[in-house]
Amino acid sequence: VQLTQTELQAILNYTVALAREAGLLILEGSAKIRSSGAADEKKNSVDLVTEYDVAVERLVKNRLSEKYPDFKFIGEESFAAGSRPELTDEPTFCVDPIDGTTNFIHGFPYACISLGLIYLKRPVLGVIYNPFLNQLYSAILGGGAYLEQASLPAIRLPLADPPRPLPSLSQALIGIEWGSDRSLEMVEKKGESFKRLAGDPATGVVKGKMAHSLRSLGSAALNYALVAQGGLDIYWEIGTWPWDICAGVIIAQEAGCFVAGGRDAPLDNDVNERVLWGRKHFVIRKIGDTETEKGVDAQKRLIKEFYETVE
Ligand code: IPD
Ligand code: CA
Ligand code: CA
Ligand code: CA
Repeated sequence: VQLTQTELQAILNYTVALAREAGLLILEGSAKIRSSGAADEKKNSVDLVTEYDVAVERLVKNRLSEKYPDFKFIGEESFAAGSRPELTDEPTFCVDPIDGTTNFIHGFPYACISLGLIYLKRPVLGVIYNPFLNQLYSAILGGGAYLEQASLPAIRLPLADPPRPLPSLSQALIGIEWGSDRSLEMVEKKGESFKRLAGDPATGVVKGKMAHSLRSLGSAALNYALVAQGGLDIYWEIGTWPWDICAGVIIAQEAGCFVAGGRDAPLDNDVNERVLWGRKHFVIRKIGDTETEKGVDAQKRLIKEFYETVE
């Protein structure tokens, strides 16, 4: 299968409509689950799944396989742990039916469907729809990133362009997550990093940067969307899967963001198979003119400052 820009646009139109339809099911489900509390545990008591996670994935998978029978599909709820599919050059949908299941169960209005398409092993299309706020983020490779909300016209991202400068980490608003691995080792490791980002170095925090603040939204995909939008400066997490970030990556990149795959990965904004499956990633918003080396250098400088601070 070969994908041209026109075909990508057609797939985007189809997947946007599908994401909106899935969003209705998510909304309906959230109301029911908030009353019943019916959720099953996966790895532990904070790793939850409901009948709606499964139902939304089934809906999306069925529709996509009818419409695009030659495309492959990876989804959180149909993924069998331990049997990681190798990415091929073929188009592969990569879907998280409900990203932010904990929020969905609690009625905290930050949960979404995250629908990405990988082609030649890189994200090329992304749709993230949060039905609670009726916000739809989308992008295709080379086409820019957009936000549609309520009945307003689509707005190109980032929302402020030229964007506010970010001379240092100490001026940043940073998205972080506890994730579902709450082992002592992980919680201590993340806790130490969060302390270095939030604590006042004048009071003795080693390597501290005291950023403006930290935010924990509960949805990896919406963290990416917010960095694309410019509302968050940085999002960093250890423990994500391809379906958490695939759509977010292309939306962010098309909005001038820089995505990196952990401290030791090369700083090249190239989200390949290794980064998608790598569990570690970092994204920073557009700071200056990212068409020029200067704007990109500013992003890279912040990424270095970040890793020197947290690790
Ligand atoms: C989780 C959310 C959460 C992030 C975890 C993800 P789920 O996805 O995105 O914010 O911290 O790493 O697994 O389980 O709600 O789809
Ligand atoms: Ca999950
Ligand atoms: Ca997820
Ligand atoms: Ca999920």
